Amino acid sequence: MKKNSSLAWNLDAIPWNSIDFELMRQRDDLFYLITAASFVEIAAELYADNLATYFCDDQEIVDWLQTSWKKEEVRHGQTLRKYVETVWPEFNWETAYADFYNEYSKKCVISPYGSSQALEMVARCVVETGTATFYEALAALTSEPVLQGITLNIRAEEINHYKNFYYFFNKLVSDHPVSRLRILLTIMSRLIEARNDDSECALWHVYCHDNANVSEPNKAEFKKIYGLLAKTIKGHYPVAVAIKMLIKPLRLPTEVKNLIQLN
Ligand SMILES: [Fe+2]
Ligand SMILES: [Fe+2]
Repeated sequence: MKKNSSLAWNLDAIPWNSIDFELMRQRDDLFYLITAASFVEIAAELYADNLATYFCDDQEIVDWLQTSWKKEEVRHGQTLRKYVETVWPEFNWETAYADFYNEYSKKCVISPYGSSQALEMVARCVVETGTATFYEALAALTSEPVLQGITLNIRAEEINHYKNFYYFFNKLVSDHPVSRLRILLTIMSRLIEARNDDSECALWHVYCHDNANVSEPNKAEFKKIYGLLAKTIKGHYPVAVAIKMLIKPLRLPTEVKNLIQLN
């Protein structure tokens, strides 16, 4: 199987003192995106336990989820949290996260593809495609060297997560085949689900606490900010990479891939 990327980097290895504060302090867009990402990453701990329970009949999967995946996702969150707390110390990360977690943990259940473990792996590949490409876009959005280093390191691990989930998908599907149509439907459903799910919930709580002095958070203003952030990411989004990763579980014949120039 694909191995987990080495734990070659950690919080202590990051040159926090080298952060270019002047470059970052004006970047409200990055403050929102990084803080929301830190929330979702740290909360992966909860999802990892749900997933491990779901795959409890396969020790190889459970071991990888618990010893590599969960730890790496949580470390992504902790790293981003430290970056946020270093650059924007006035933001109360702890309180904002507590509110986010309160809402997120209620809806964090195994996705509805439970009828097939292989399809759950397809769904996980979609999620990892989303995170890998998100961090690639984030790295392109800033010239601040410390943040760039962090996002590129995280991106590399998200790609490795994708490879592991894809490996498990192949393993499961060889025992219990599923049709290409069901795989395609899973990819599409997960994409639609992802569009308005975790990230919006996280960004909402960042917004509420960024405006903690305002008695009533303004939903219309939040929608405007959300739209602007989506547009910002879109401008740097690696579309070709995303398509290639998304359709990989379809295992299209080489001729078809050549036809749509994906090789
Ligand atoms: Fe992550
Ligand atoms: Fe990941």
